[in-house]
Amino acid sequence: MPKKNQTDTKVSSTKHIPVMKAEVLDYIRPKLGQSYLDLTAGYGGHAEAVLNLTNSPNKAVLVDRDDQAVAVLKDRFAEVGAKIIHQDFLKATQYLTSEGMHFDMILADLGLSSPHLEEADRGFSIKKPAVLDMRMDRRQELTAQVIVNTWPEEKLATIIRDYGQEPKARRIAQRIVRNRPIDTTDKLAAIISPIWPGRSKIHPASRTFQALRIVVNDEIGQLEQTLQQLPDLMAPGGRLVIISFHSLEDRLVKRFISEQSSEGYDTQLRALTKKPLTPSRNEIVFNPRARSAKLRAVVKIKTKKKGLSVKLNVY
Ligand SMILES: C[S@@+](CC[C@H](N)C(=O)[O-])C[C@H]1O[C@@H](n2cnc3c(N)ncnc32)[C@H](O)[C@@H]1O
Repeated sequence: MPKKNQTDTKVSSTKHIPVMKAEVLDYIRPKLGQSYLDLTAGYGGHAEAVLNLTNSPNKAVLVDRDDQAVAVLKDRFAEVGAKIIHQDFLKATQYLTSEGMHFDMILADLGLSSPHLEEADRGFSIKKPAVLDMRMDRRQELTAQVIVNTWPEEKLATIIRDYGQEPKARRIAQRIVRNRPIDTTDKLAAIISPIWPGRSKIHPASRTFQALRIVVNDEIGQLEQTLQQLPDLMAPGGRLVIISFHSLEDRLVKRFISEQSSEGYDTQLRALTKKPLTPSRNEIVFNPRARSAKLRAVVKIKTKKKGLSVKLNVY
């Protein structure tokens, strides 16, 4: 596929290594001329692999809520005819549904990109001192700094417990409130660290950082509501692949697939993965960020037509 020179973009597409690329292609099975919706197109690694096989970039819609990712996507794919949407995937899918669009392949590779973690000014990383930001979409007002400095202790404890799965959420919330104002990642990490003394595999503040980024970006709400839109956006025989990176997301995806594919429900989807696929050892060695990935895939086997159900045989 023709590509423009990328030297003028701020972040190079090579900064994010697409996770489980071979498995994505295996399950999404791109064919010449097919349409593709990438809900989290990021730096375009998966999109490029898919579009190289479909050779139909004019039937591709690439969504991301991050301005840096969108700049790279525009640079790489706009010229060859792909539609690029700078929006969260809930609003994007609502729009595409209202336009009556259907896709042969849909991919959601959830979570953060490598530049989110590597670029200090994004404020996602415990290891990089920065202002507590954590917004994927920098047009929105809510930042981690706002939550940490203004939310009541009780509410902080709840989100740290529920979204960070942190057993010491109450004590952490108490320390946060006592140490306000907290403007930076390193200050927050230092405030939390004494709560988990001694050596541990993960940083003592990891679970709190996870909770904050989930809330700042409404990750659970976005996924829960978007999943409900996806069956209508899938063409008959269309395939959907979702890669998640934490158990809260995977639980939602698992429940969605099991509901949509169970008898008695208005069955539309069939699971292609009984259990989630995980990356190979080799991939994890090469790209440690892949280590928590879980991939699930489904195919649309039934389509509703004016109250009439048509069952398709799809293998
Ligand atoms: C793991 S990266 C995807 C990388 C991409 N598959 C690639 O090959 O470069 C996740 C991307 O999804 C975006 N993202 C996460 N949640 C989103 C949402 N709710 N709506 C739109 N984009 C989202 C992030 O900004 C990030 O760029």
